[in-house]
Parts: sequence; C-alpha cells; structure tokens
Amino acid sequence: MSDALIDRIAAAETLQDLDSVRVSLLGKSGEITAKLKSLGSMDPDTRAAEAPKIHALREAVITALADRKEAMETAELERKLATERVDLSLPAPENITGTVHPVSQVMDELAEIFADLGFSVAEGPEIETQWYNFTALNMPENHPARAMQDTFYLEPRTPDEEPRVLRTHTSPVQIRAGESQGAPLYAIAPGRVYRSDSDATHTPMFHQIEGLVIDRGITLGHLKWTLQTFLKAFFERDDVVLRMRPSYFPFTEPSAEVDVGWSMEKGRRVVGGQEGWMEVLGSGMVHPRVLSNMGLDPDEWQGFAFGCGIDRLAMLKYGMDDLRAFFDGDIRWLKHYGFRA
Ligand code: PHE
Repeated sequence: MSDALIDRIAAAETLQDLDSVRVSLLGKSGEITAKLKSLGSMDPDTRAAEAPKIHALREAVITALADRKEAMETAELERKLATERVDLSLPAPENITGTVHPVSQVMDELAEIFADLGFSVAEGPEIETQWYNFTALNMPENHPARAMQDTFYLEPRTPDEEPRVLRTHTSPVQIRAGESQGAPLYAIAPGRVYRSDSDATHTPMFHQIEGLVIDRGITLGHLKWTLQTFLKAFFERDDVVLRMRPSYFPFTEPSAEVDVGWSMEKGRRVVGGQEGWMEVLGSGMVHPRVLSNMGLDPDEWQGFAFGCGIDRLAMLKYGMDDLRAFFDGDIRWLKHYGFRA
C-alpha cells in the first residue's frame, strides 16, 4: 500500500475524520473505487496484471481503516476509564429523612388528650370574614377590641366587598362549629393564625388551639377542671398548678387569663411547682350574644371557651427558646428538635 494512503489514515484525529478518509477512498467516487472501475477499459493483459494489485490495495486500505478505528476507540475508552473513575472510598451521600415538626407533634398530642375528654376537632378557614373573626364574637365595628389584634386585611375583590382578614385567632371556629353542629358541643380547633407582629417572641404566623364546650349547666368549675386536666396531661406532671386572673375578652363573660406555675430545674424554667407564674391562655364563659350568633338560645345553653398558643406550649414542654426558629425551615434545628415519625 502506498505510504501516502497510510499517512492519510494515520493523520485522522477523530472518528469523523477517519470516516471522511474512508469515503474519499472507498466511496462511490472514491480513489480506489475509480481504480476498480478503470479495470473495465483495460486490455486483457494489463487487466490481468493490475487487477490483483488493485484488489490487494483495497484490502490493505480496509484493514488499515479498521485498525485505526480500533486504536481510536481503545484510546477513548482508556481516557474515560482514567477520568471517569468511581472513587469507592468517598463517603456515601447522607440519606436525609423528614421528621415531624414540633408544632405538628404538639397538635397531635393535644388532639389525643382532648379526644380522651370527648372533644372532636373542628376546622375553619384561615382567610376569614370580619363577621366570623370579629363581629359574631361580639367585637362590633369600630370597637376598640379589634385594635387589640394587629390584623392583616386582604384587598377586597370587588369595590363593594368587605375586606376579608387573615384570622387573628382560632375563635371564629367557635361560631362556625356552633352554627354547623349545634349543642351540646365539645370541640377543639387547632390551626394557624396571623397578626402583623414580629420579634423574638412573636411571628406574623403562629398557632393556636381553641377549646369550646356548650352544654346545659356549664360553669367556671368545668372550665377550670378541663384546663387543669389538659395541662397536667400535656406537661406529663401532677404538680402543674393553675391560677386564674380576671381579664377581658369581648366574647367571654366573665373572662380569665390562666397562668401556670413554673420552677427551676437543671438551670431552666419548667412547668410544675410554683416558684413563679407565666401566662399560657385566655378563657372564659361564652358570652350570651356569641351563643345567639351561633343560633343557640343563651337561656338554654351555657359554655366555656379557651384559646392557647401552641408554639408557646411546644417551647415550654421541649425547652426551645426562640420562636422564630420554628418557622425558619433550618434542617439542623429540625434534626435536633423534630420527632421521628
Ligand atoms: N382568642 C383569644 C386570643 O387570641 C383567646 C381566647 C379564646 C380567650 C377563647 C377567651 C376565650 O387572645
């Protein structure tokens, strides 16, 4: 085979180059194809002498092309093996599994405690009308009580729609449950609530649990027993002490703020004992006007209600100190405080 042909095959750098060389030699109008065609016009003696040479050249070119191709493929494979090596000594990527958020955990614990006391779970929307969030709860328009809660108002969708609000508390669920289920009624309503307030102890979104009992002959005594039973079960201690202080909520009369006793254990404040007091919830006897707004006769039915911050309960029970961390979504915090499902 001629050196020139060998050089052309050897000079091909890539598989595409090599294929162009193949076409230029063996293709329809390739050089070797042309030589083969020229055999037809030769006189018999010349043809007899030339034919074996041309066929031999063709065979040699085919072999050279195949060898070159194999060499290129081997080189490519070696390059890949060298660069794309799998390092089996590298640590395996960590398998991150989810945990139950402390707020969800506490909501489950509360639902369980109240289920044992015969309470069912009621729900309401987070985008609420002013009727349910305020008016039906005896907070008439322009009543200063509405200013007690820094409300997020939504843009009205039509010029004559009254602005809706992000519920500022779970108390609107009282009205919805009373309206739809009637009395007697034993319900809790855990969920998200919103106020435009933000610092180390306040986030614009937080969680409350509402409790509502409506039945015949319900008294403050039933309220106190229920709260005592619930707080002892939740904190899993018998020495949980309650203190009720007279207070004001438009939807309860009388109203009471409830404190629990705390004491120092291993350098931190825990619920139990009574070295000091901290406020944990608001409560009272359902206002007769609120019962009427549920469609119930206040002369026949009495009730009590309470509202309690769930995030606060979680912090107290599990020893967390910054409320904002609850909603940062930091996986390290969740790993530390989250609960295995
Ligand atoms: N809704 C009140 C609050 O958010 C708490 C409360 C609920 C008080 C039920 C009395 C009865 O502050």
